[in-house]
Amino acid sequence: MSNKALDLLLTRRSVSASALSEPGPSEEQLRQILTAASRVPDHKKLAPWRFILFQGDARKAFGAVLAEACRVEEKDPSAFRLETEAARFLRAPTVIAVISRVVPTPGAPEWEQILSVGAACQNTILAATALGFGAQWITEWYGYSETVCQALKLAPNERVAGFVYIGTAKEKPDERERPALADIVSVWTSAKDQ
Ligand SMILES: Cc1cc2nc3c(=O)[nH]c(=O)nc-3n(C[C@H](O)[C@H](O)[C@H](O)COP(=O)(O)O)c2cc1C
Repeated sequence: MSNKALDLLLTRRSVSASALSEPGPSEEQLRQILTAASRVPDHKKLAPWRFILFQGDARKAFGAVLAEACRVEEKDPSAFRLETEAARFLRAPTVIAVISRVVPTPGAPEWEQILSVGAACQNTILAATALGFGAQWITEWYGYSETVCQALKLAPNERVAGFVYIGTAKEKPDERERPALADIVSVWTSAKDQ
């Protein structure tokens, strides 16, 4: 029997940011994507994540931030490199920066809060894919750039979990090899049974 949710999980592929184009999600679709993104397991209900949207002209303006960060942090970047940075966010109609926000809380270790933001990134991709869009979760260099984190006004307890690029796939991505279950799954047996 066909099951759309399971089919999505079994067939989803990321679409490279450079293979995305217009159109992107509508306001309503974006609301659905973000609602799905924030509906993830979250120990102690801390919402240890938040989302920053980049659309329209803001993508170009942020490109200027990326180019400047590249100039500040790298030794003598080429004009080509600076142009590439300036155009990064123009690759897709919508980019969502998913921000990890760790809230020190007894019983909810930092590790678990970080796992929750990973789930938020994945739900973002799944919802975008379910709506017929292509999406990719990337960090590239600027996810780790101090200059960029400052421009994003991240608080000391925050860091970039990823930038999710969303748009219409120019082409369907090829399948890629996945780990064999036999290599990653084992069945626990008690010592007395061995
Ligand atoms: C935290 C995280 C960061 C990633 N950063 C990048 C990146 O900077 N560049 C990249 O090409 N892929 C990156 N990836 C991998 C892609 O998201 C994606 O998994 C890959 O293109 C394989 O596609 P698939 O999702 O269809 O398996 C990252 C994945 C994760 C989980």
